[in-house]
Amino acid sequence: MPIYFDNAATSHPKPKAVVDAAVRAMTEFNANPGRSGHRAALAAARQVLDTRERLAGLINAPDPMSVIHCFNCTDALNLAIKGSLHAGDHVIATQLEHNSVLRVLATLAARERITLTLVAPRPDGFVDPGDIRAALTDKTALIACTHASNVTGAIQPVAAIGQVAKQCGARYLIDGAQALGAMPVDVQALSCEMYAFPGHKSLLGPQGTGGLYIAPGVRLLPLREGGTGSSSDSMLQPDELPERYESGTVNLPGIAGLGAGCAYVAENLAQIMMHERELAQALYEGLAAMEGITLYSPAREAERAGIVCFNVADLSSSQVSDALAQRDIAVRGGLHCAPGAHRVLGTLRRGAVRASVGHANTFEEVDQFLEAVRAML
Ligand code: ALA
Repeated sequence: MPIYFDNAATSHPKPKAVVDAAVRAMTEFNANPGRSGHRAALAAARQVLDTRERLAGLINAPDPMSVIHCFNCTDALNLAIKGSLHAGDHVIATQLEHNSVLRVLATLAARERITLTLVAPRPDGFVDPGDIRAALTDKTALIACTHASNVTGAIQPVAAIGQVAKQCGARYLIDGAQALGAMPVDVQALSCEMYAFPGHKSLLGPQGTGGLYIAPGVRLLPLREGGTGSSSDSMLQPDELPERYESGTVNLPGIAGLGAGCAYVAENLAQIMMHERELAQALYEGLAAMEGITLYSPAREAERAGIVCFNVADLSSSQVSDALAQRDIAVRGGLHCAPGAHRVLGTLRRGAVRASVGHANTFEEVDQFLEAVRAML
């Protein structure tokens, strides 16, 4: 049996209800939501709204219309960043960010549109909110921070950073790629203006889904203009939400599947969270007991998402991930699209091996995985 420990890249398996909902969208109401007025089109529009409402419920958004359907978390982050910034703005992000934040910001900085400060985490892998405060300038317009590192799983002090952003008046963007669906998220308690998330990771939805929460009163420049099915006599993009940011036909089968994923997560979040934490803890402790393993994730289970990042002796991460793949064990080696995190860890050259657990993994799989790693030492 294959062992799938690559849930931080995309979750597997999807609950049957997710697959069924995606199929139903393509067979029972395969029409364009928000465009026509016939039965199937109305059912499609209801589905898109239903998923939006479920997402809003999961993150405690004050208004479902402030949750924008996007094509993935990268798409959501692009909208949040490019839609927020103006020439001359200063941005603070962290070294832990994924390239979906880093490259967007670095491109704007290279074009001399913005100035950028990347704050390093402390040696324990957590960003110090005081270091964010120390990086503020009178031009700081945006602070961006990952909720949990996709490399180490370290859960960042996002609520405390939200307080820093609130005090200085900068917009605050959280990258929830490794958090939403894996732990409780309350966008109001986090004081964030924007929260970006994928649908295909811990929300257990299909690929090609994701979203951006935009706080009331926050207006972004849309990434794309086009047909919305509303105000069609105007050449200008409508102001209303969510149409302002949702031009073009949405991913209906994906959104239908995502709605079922949200329902599954909402019903089972406490159990999923406990199960994934216990699995990751067993992985961590099993690896820590072996001589020759270097661990990069936080030792305390409450401080990390279901990710355990490590290296084996002096092997490269691709040697280890390839050897595990030979035994039908799926992990991700390399740099995980987060070069800053690896620079901080000192693993930029050989990368690291990331095992990431999901709702369907078992303790037997953890044992088999540990045995496979032991055989490499
Ligand atoms: N961002 C995903 C990962 O961390 C793809 O693997």
